[in-house]
Amino acid sequence: VNASPSTPPQARVLLASNRGPISFTVEDDGTLTPRRGGGGLVSGLSAIGDEIESVWVCAALTEGDRAATRQGKLGDPSVRMLDIDAGTFARAYNGIANSTLWFVHHLIYNTPTTPVFGSSFRREWASYEAYNRAFAEALAEAAAPGATVLVQDYHLSLTPRLLRELRPDLRIGHFSHTPWAPPDYYRLLPDDIARDVLVGILGADQAGFLTRRWASAFADCCEAVLGAEVDRSALTVTHEGRTTRLGVHPLGADGDFLRERAHRPDVDSRLAALREAVGDRRTIVRVDRTELSKNIVRGLHAYRHLLHTRPEWLDRVVHIAFAYPSRHDLPEYREYTASVLRVAQEINDEFGTPDWQPVLLAVDDDFARSLAAYRLADVALVNPIRDGMNLVAKELPVVSDDGCALVLSREAGAYEELGEDAVTVNPYDVIATAEALHTALTMPAAERADRCKRLAEAGTALPPSAWFLEQYRALAGDQLQE
Ligand code: F6P
Repeated sequence: VNASPSTPPQARVLLASNRGPISFTVEDDGTLTPRRGGGGLVSGLSAIGDEIESVWVCAALTEGDRAATRQGKLGDPSVRMLDIDAGTFARAYNGIANSTLWFVHHLIYNTPTTPVFGSSFRREWASYEAYNRAFAEALAEAAAPGATVLVQDYHLSLTPRLLRELRPDLRIGHFSHTPWAPPDYYRLLPDDIARDVLVGILGADQAGFLTRRWASAFADCCEAVLGAEVDRSALTVTHEGRTTRLGVHPLGADGDFLRERAHRPDVDSRLAALREAVGDRRTIVRVDRTELSKNIVRGLHAYRHLLHTRPEWLDRVVHIAFAYPSRHDLPEYREYTASVLRVAQEINDEFGTPDWQPVLLAVDDDFARSLAAYRLADVALVNPIRDGMNLVAKELPVVSDDGCALVLSREAGAYEELGEDAVTVNPYDVIATAEALHTALTMPAAERADRCKRLAEAGTALPPSAWFLEQYRALAGDQLQE
């Protein structure tokens, strides 16, 4: 199916992602308020607007988005929002993307009881296929001949192949913002689906990853599941006569933006409030989505262990934990949020005094307050059980006022670049994490400042616009001269 004659293909560069750069809320009086889309992927991609003229195809996520799409009120001609049937969208996004593929790549299943791939799963899978097809059709319609299309993430793993079938003339890239599962774990998926996801991505000319480790795991899965031919030095995968290049592009923090944003008055006022609450105590700061893979509960257990085993820290440290709401349509996430709240409360009940609250936990979204906590941090705690990159680990050292020490999980993608200057931990080992917190808290100020400087340099080596251009150049190549 080629684009219809009434809507001539025009865009030379297209992006596709589930979450777009803008989202709408319906107010009580029926008006639509636009807000910038959230999350690391959107921050990364938003940076390209000024560099390259492009069209961004995304899904309508909220009722406000659907209304704005239907009423033609997106207000930005470069954004195309797909108004996919709400049930189909929910089954694709919640059922497959966030409960199946996310769980597989982050090793989240408790395998004696989950996953269960039965008939409701198959219904969700059919919706995921339909959702990916809707993207492929929209892209096929909007792309100029020979255009470059950059498809993002696990929501859209089938789109590259479907798009290639519709438009073999396009240059197609896919980028995974998650880790990739090792073959034994990946093969929990039903065989046909394990194949379809890989073949879907291999429909691209280039498949990008945040680290070499995730790119290798993808190649391992292609070899184990498809019998594909993998060239590990050239980083290519060949399957059924087509070769896909693997790219490694480690997204970094936007240093210029963060330094400027972190010194605006709204951040200053929140910093003053936090200082007031903390007093002259030391701080351990974490900022995450309330996300199963972020390991917030074990982080709290480690902090409790620290207070038990190192009583010198009683009344001398505060753990600031900001955990934004995320994916609350899924029961696992609601339960996880409840356990974060419960364990934080237990610690405050056990150790707190009238003058000292050991854990300051907030579960609402406030970017300015997060930046204030970044500035105040003596220690940053980033201990995911698995994470594609983790931008907090890269952002916090950039903004820290006095130089912070970073306690970092070796399972975060950021470990590849930051591991040397961080205090690194096995995220499952709460005793080792407690010891790492102690090491970080007692690190001499000069060493902490030196390490923090190097962390900030490494963490901003490939800021979002450069990150995007790097993968775009790798894909578009000689087209850039045209
Ligand atoms: O791939 C990870 C990611 O897309 C991040 O970039 C982002 O922070 C997160 O997932 C957002 O998830 P969601 O769109 O479901 O809120």
